[in-house]
Amino acid sequence: MAGGGFATATANGVEFEAKITPIVIISCIMAATGGLMFGYDVGVSGGVTSMPDFLKKFFPVVHRKVEAGADKNSNYCKYDNQGLQLFTSSLYLAGLTATFFASYTTRTLGRRPTMLIAGVFFIIGVVLNAAAQDLAMLIAGRILLGCGVGFANQAVPLFLSEIAPTKIRGGLNILFQLNVTIGILFANLVNYGTAKIKGGWGWRLSLGLAGVPALLLTVGALLVTETPNSLVERGRLDEGKAVLRRIRGTDNVEPEFADLLEASRLAKEVKHPFRNLLQRRNRPQLVIAVALQIFQQCTGINAIMFYAPVLFSTLGFGNDAALYSAVVTGAVNVLSTVVSIYSVDKVGRRVLLLEAGVQMFFSQVVIAIILGIKVTDHSQNLSKGFAILVVVMICTYVAAFAWSWGPLGWLIPSETFPLETRSAGQSVTVCVNLLFTFIIAQAFLSMLCHFKFGIFIFFSSWVLVMSFFVMFLLPETKNIPIEEMTERVWKKHWFWARFMDDHHDDQVFASGHVNGKKSNGKSNGFDPSTRL
Ligand code: BGC
Repeated sequence: MAGGGFATATANGVEFEAKITPIVIISCIMAATGGLMFGYDVGVSGGVTSMPDFLKKFFPVVHRKVEAGADKNSNYCKYDNQGLQLFTSSLYLAGLTATFFASYTTRTLGRRPTMLIAGVFFIIGVVLNAAAQDLAMLIAGRILLGCGVGFANQAVPLFLSEIAPTKIRGGLNILFQLNVTIGILFANLVNYGTAKIKGGWGWRLSLGLAGVPALLLTVGALLVTETPNSLVERGRLDEGKAVLRRIRGTDNVEPEFADLLEASRLAKEVKHPFRNLLQRRNRPQLVIAVALQIFQQCTGINAIMFYAPVLFSTLGFGNDAALYSAVVTGAVNVLSTVVSIYSVDKVGRRVLLLEAGVQMFFSQVVIAIILGIKVTDHSQNLSKGFAILVVVMICTYVAAFAWSWGPLGWLIPSETFPLETRSAGQSVTVCVNLLFTFIIAQAFLSMLCHFKFGIFIFFSSWVLVMSFFVMFLLPETKNIPIEEMTERVWKKHWFWARFMDDHHDDQVFASGHVNGKKSNGKSNGFDPSTRL
C-alpha cells in the first residue's frame, strides 16, 4: 500500500491509524466527477444564452432586444426575460426537489447507488438538451439534469467526508468543489469554441458535451467502494470493517471502527431524521448549514458564473471578448480552489473565510464604482483600461470566493453533523443551496436591470454580514475527527455549547427545554480560544 502513514489523535488520546491509500485517492477522484457535472451545468447556460442562434430559436423576443442595441433598451436590461432565466433556474428548482428523495436513497441504499442514480438522470437530461426541438424539450432536459444535481450533491460530499482520513478530509472534500470549478471552466471553453460554429448548432454541442462528465460519474459510481459509515449504518458490520481496513491500509482499525459503531448506534435510535434535525441539540449544525448556504449564494458568485458572458456583453464587450473573459474568470476560479485544498487543513476554515470577506467586499465596491461612473442606460464608455480593470476586479473577487465560500460552504456542513442527522442535514444543506441558487438564477438579470451597478453594492453588503457571522458564530473544525465534533467543537463553543446536552431529548422539539429542564444557556462561558 502506498501513501505515508499517519495517526490522528482523538479526544480520548486514542489514535486512529490511517494511510492515504490509492483506493482512497481513486474513490475520491471518481466521486468528485459529480462536481464536474454540476459545474458544467452551471457554466454552460450563460454562454449558450449569449449565442444569437440559440436565442433566435428559443427566445426570439430577447434576440430582437439584443439586436436592437442600447438605443432602444437599457444596457442593463437587454437580457431581462423571465423565460430566459427559467432556462438557467429550472435545473436548480428540480435539484432541490430531488434532494429529499436523495436523502432517502443515501440512507437506505447507500452513497454509491445514489451517485449511480444521479449519473443516469444526467445522461437522459443531456440527450434531451442536445436534441431539443422546442422550449419544452429544453426545459425538460434541464429539469432532469437538476434531478441529477440533487442526487449527486447529496451523495458525493458525504461520500468524500466519510471515506477520507481525518487529516486530509478537508482537502479531499474540496476535490468536489475543484471539480465544480473545472466543470465551469470546461463549459466556458466549450462555449468559446462552439460560438464560432457557423451552422447554428454550436449550442447543441455545448449542451451535449455535458455527456462527458455524466458518463464519468456513472462509470465512477460503478467502480468505487461504499463507505464504511454507510455499511455500518445499514447493519453490514463485517463488510464495513473490511472496507475500513482496505481504505485505511491497516488492520488496526478498531478505534475508528468503535467510533463508527457508536455513531451508528446513536443514529439507529433516531426514527425520524428530519424531525430529529429540529431538536435543540442539533440546532447549531442546522443553523450553520443553512446560513452557510444562504450566504454562499448571497456572495453573488452565480451572477458571475451563470451570466458572466451576458454581463460582459452588457458592459459593451463584443461576443468573443465576453466569452473569452468568462474563460479567464473560470480559470481563476479553478486555480484559487487549489489554494484552498492546500491550505484548508493547515490554516483552517475561519482564516480563509475571513480573509476572503475583506477581498470580496473590496473588489465588489470597486466594480460598482467603475460601472456607476462609466456605464449608463444608453451608453457605455468603458475604455479598454477600465474594461480590463473590471475583469481584474471580477477575478480578484472570484479568487477569494474560490478559496473560501465556494468549497467551505459544502465542506463545513458535511463534516459537522453527527451520523444520526448527517444525511438529513446534508439534504437540507443541498436544498437550501439550490433554493438560493434558483433565486439568484431567476432574479439576477431582472435585478441587474433595476439595480444597475448597485447590484454589486447589494452583494457586498451581504459579504459584510456573513463575515461577522463567521467571526462570532462559526467554530473551527480543522483536524477534528468527524464523529467527535459534538464533544470537541460544539460542547466547547462559547455560544453553541448551550444547545448541547448529553442526554437524548427525542421528545423535545424546538423548545428551550432539555429533558424537562430549561437549559440555562450558560453551560460554557465565552472562551475566544475555542473559536480559532
Ligand atoms: C456553488 C455554486 C457555484 C460554484 C462556483 C459552488 O460552491 O455552490 O453555486 O456556481 O461554487 O465555483
